[in-house]
Amino acid sequence: MANFIDDIPEARRETLVARAEPVQRTSSSFVPWLLLILAILGLGGGVGFWWLRMGGANTSVAAEPEAASTETSSTASEAEGAAAAAVVTSGPAVTPVSSEPASNELVSSEPDVYNDLLGHRPYEITDESSLVTISTNAMVRLKPEAAEKVEIMIAEARAVGVSLDVISGFRSLEDQKYLFFELKAERGQTTQTRAEVSAPPGYSEHHTGYVVDFIDTSQPATELNAAFETTQAFRWLEQNAAYYGFEMSFPKDNEQNVAYEPWHWRYVGNQESLEMFYQN
Ligand code: DAL
Ligand code: ZN
Repeated sequence: MANFIDDIPEARRETLVARAEPVQRTSSSFVPWLLLILAILGLGGGVGFWWLRMGGANTSVAAEPEAASTETSSTASEAEGAAAAAVVTSGPAVTPVSSEPASNELVSSEPDVYNDLLGHRPYEITDESSLVTISTNAMVRLKPEAAEKVEIMIAEARAVGVSLDVISGFRSLEDQKYLFFELKAERGQTTQTRAEVSAPPGYSEHHTGYVVDFIDTSQPATELNAAFETTQAFRWLEQNAAYYGFEMSFPKDNEQNVAYEPWHWRYVGNQESLEMFYQN
């Protein structure tokens, strides 16, 4: 029969040979070594027994209760579970060691649960003195950076024959109260139905001054309704708005369950606006 060790690389062979030698030596002189080890253990045990009787063991248990309970709770096997629980519950570090989240932690991990209203997020009403008007429609006011980009977008679109313009920008609390409550009553809508197409006051993206409603002046019938998606203005926005820091706030099937609004775009091109729209 072939010797198996011949099939192992030379370097490994040397290791195996080197390890083989002490094994043989140990088997031939095993008894004296064993006696020596037993003698040392016996001496150590005697000293340990004396130490325990003198009270030395008490300090090692009581000195680090936090460390002991932490280690026990994180490394104990299932077989040790009961004992570990006994250590944890008897130690002073029970509260910090507990891995159970407090009930308010559960709530804060899902901010939308308490931080929105009918799918809309709250926004501060921006300081109106910080707003500037758009040259093509003086009724529309926006934050300067957003306004500057909108002016360029309108000019660029018109340069290629697209009739892009704006119809709405910043809205005050009063504006939004009218849009939400007055029109809701006028149309006999339920709160839920109204909220699908209009934000409650305090919850409109228009409060920020970073949001604009676009129109296609060549197709007035599409203003502020889903048919706006059929216009050249909308196609131009789809292809170009991102270059100017704008995105559609409420695409189809958005996670806020707000109705599809192809005309409503928000500026997210600076730190302030990004935090407004993306920070819960
Ligand atoms: N029109 C949308 C829902 C808003 O005002 O935020
Ligand atoms: Zn809008």
